[in-house]
Amino acid sequence: MELSGAAAVVTGGAGGLGEATVRRLVAAGARVVIADLAREKAEALAGEMGAAAAFVETDVTEEDSVSRALDCASAMGPLRVAVAVHGGFGGGGRTLRSDGTPHALEDFRRTVDHYLVGTFNVLRLAAQAMASTDPGEDGERGVIINTASIAGYEGTIGTVAYAAAKGGVIGMTLTAARDLAVVGVRVVTIAPGTFITPAYGMEPEKVEAMWAPAVPFPKRMGQPREYAHLVQAICENSYLNGEVIRIDGAIRFGPKGPR
Ligand SMILES: NC(=O)c1ccc[n+]([C@@H]2O[C@H](COP(=O)([O-])OP(=O)(O)OC[C@H]3O[C@@H](n4cnc5c(N)ncnc54)[C@H](O)[C@@H]3O)[C@@H](O)[C@H]2O)c1
Repeated sequence: MELSGAAAVVTGGAGGLGEATVRRLVAAGARVVIADLAREKAEALAGEMGAAAAFVETDVTEEDSVSRALDCASAMGPLRVAVAVHGGFGGGGRTLRSDGTPHALEDFRRTVDHYLVGTFNVLRLAAQAMASTDPGEDGERGVIINTASIAGYEGTIGTVAYAAAKGGVIGMTLTAARDLAVVGVRVVTIAPGTFITPAYGMEPEKVEAMWAPAVPFPKRMGQPREYAHLVQAICENSYLNGEVIRIDGAIRFGPKGPR
């Protein structure tokens, strides 16, 4: 699929993986909407990108909010790409805490709502917007790229809600691709391992020291540009569909993560 002249939406576009994705798509000739809640960072990035990008304050869990971001993108060109890479929080705790109390149900719901329902909200509304565009080669109208995590396969202790949400994103990938084949829209999910981003809330050197030893090769954490590189490859390779792609340096989480 040709990125030049296409419009794209990136939820979480002001975040670590999102910003790298916005930069990569713009460099490939796309026009990109940064759909995020982080106004200051998103406006700075949009300003730097000039006419190739716009910021629309977006909450992925709200229908109207996501629709506004998609409308803005559709006004910039045919909507061909939607990347859901919003984040924001993790944790949540163990299923049963050490004092014997169960995981708070509300915390579980909030995490699933943010990571799984929010991703599905973007997917379904992006599919609707893409379906109304003129098809390109092979009848292709666009590609929707979700972001799971390898924690969706091998969640670590204390992350049951996050693992469930990411497992849900993995699980809906093939079904959504099958559903959307009729309108020529592909669905691919990326399952990252450990990438250096602000999500860890620590200095990069400290995060790297914690995680790098657990990665077989390359013996370091992933760089956001490597995630963005994969986004571009998925966009441009029309035969990738209905698949979850791990990008993780062959790391497999043990029960306690890096420890
Ligand atoms: N960094 C990693 O190692 C890693 C590993 C596996 C999976 N992931 C996944 O990748 C995604 C992005 O992670 P990151 O490390 O870039 O995080 P990040 O914290 O750097 O960026 C997340 C961005 O999402 C935005 N956001 C938060 N709530 C939002 C909402 N309701 N609507 C729209 N935007 C919202 C934030 O403002 C922020 O800009 C997450 O889904 C995360 O689970 C990251």
